[in-house]
Amino acid sequence: MEQVLQQLADLRKEIESLQISNAKALEEYRIKFLGTKGLVKALMGEMKNVANEQKKAFGQSLNEFKQFAEAKYEEWKNGVGESNGTAGDIPDVTLPGDAIAVGSRHPISLMRNRMVQIFQRLGFAVADGPEIDDDWHNFTALNLPENHPARDMQDTFYISTNPAWLLRTHTSNLQIRAMEHSKPPIRIVTPGRVYRNETISARSHCFFHQIEGLYVDENVSFADLKQTLYFFVQEMFGKEVKVRFRPSYFPFTEPSAEMDISCLLCKGEGCSVCKKTGWLEILGCGMVHPKVLDNCGIDSNKYTGFAFGMGIERPAMLKYGIKDIRLFSENDVRFLKQFTGAV
Ligand code: DAH
Repeated sequence: MEQVLQQLADLRKEIESLQISNAKALEEYRIKFLGTKGLVKALMGEMKNVANEQKKAFGQSLNEFKQFAEAKYEEWKNGVGESNGTAGDIPDVTLPGDAIAVGSRHPISLMRNRMVQIFQRLGFAVADGPEIDDDWHNFTALNLPENHPARDMQDTFYISTNPAWLLRTHTSNLQIRAMEHSKPPIRIVTPGRVYRNETISARSHCFFHQIEGLYVDENVSFADLKQTLYFFVQEMFGKEVKVRFRPSYFPFTEPSAEMDISCLLCKGEGCSVCKKTGWLEILGCGMVHPKVLDNCGIDSNKYTGFAFGMGIERPAMLKYGIKDIRLFSENDVRFLKQFTGAV
């Protein structure tokens, strides 16, 4: 008994003299003293050799020793966790974390959001609608009756099982849907994807995106249209960018116009992008044709409206210096990740 008590006292001294500051040494300590094959366990095994009347005293001493060894272990464990850099395999929480890879917005979404936000500031709401639509909404109601030659302006994909349905060729179908379902004042923009049976090349694709605008109320004039589009161009491309309107033809507007902006790359000097003209065509627009209003149940004697439609790809290509429209739909991560962080 004396011998064992002496051993406990010696071990206590040994522990007191220890300086444990890393995880490896701490684990060695735990194994040596507190592990299943450690000294505390071994000393407990001595119990059977101790005389009955001494068992209690021995048990007490051993228990005290065990608590002491465990307390020391806890103390070092906490210390090891806090000590920077010397923690062995315990993670150093002061190191910079691993970067979490974040996705990026698609450049078309970036451009669409910017466009939408500008019109929202003017009080336009965003409307959405089907990409697969019927002939009425995509053509007929827009003053393009069957056999109208202007239908050839847009090569259409028809649904093979039911040619009464088609992939919309422009977002103008949503003008019709908006006017059919609501009463003036109507002030909406409708961004969305459109489809045309065109050969895919660096400059054209069989699907792309447009944003359509529509404003119908009493006394809406061409001056309102121009002012809205001036504001848009200045906000979108900068105050120094010039605008011009050219007379044009669309069956659903009268009068109709196309709007150009001064070339963003050469500032109007003439370059390969603007084909030496100094101008870039960006949209079609006009006053909503009275027949279109009537087709949608809106009294064309009481109300007037303006509309415009523009592509999203072209301005995005100009802004981000993208030379091939196919990049937008190829899902190449090397392309897409260049827009990380852009808003
Ligand atoms: N839908 C025409 C196109 O895709 C663009 C357009 C022109 C839309 C004039 C309009 C408009 O709303 O008024 O080519």
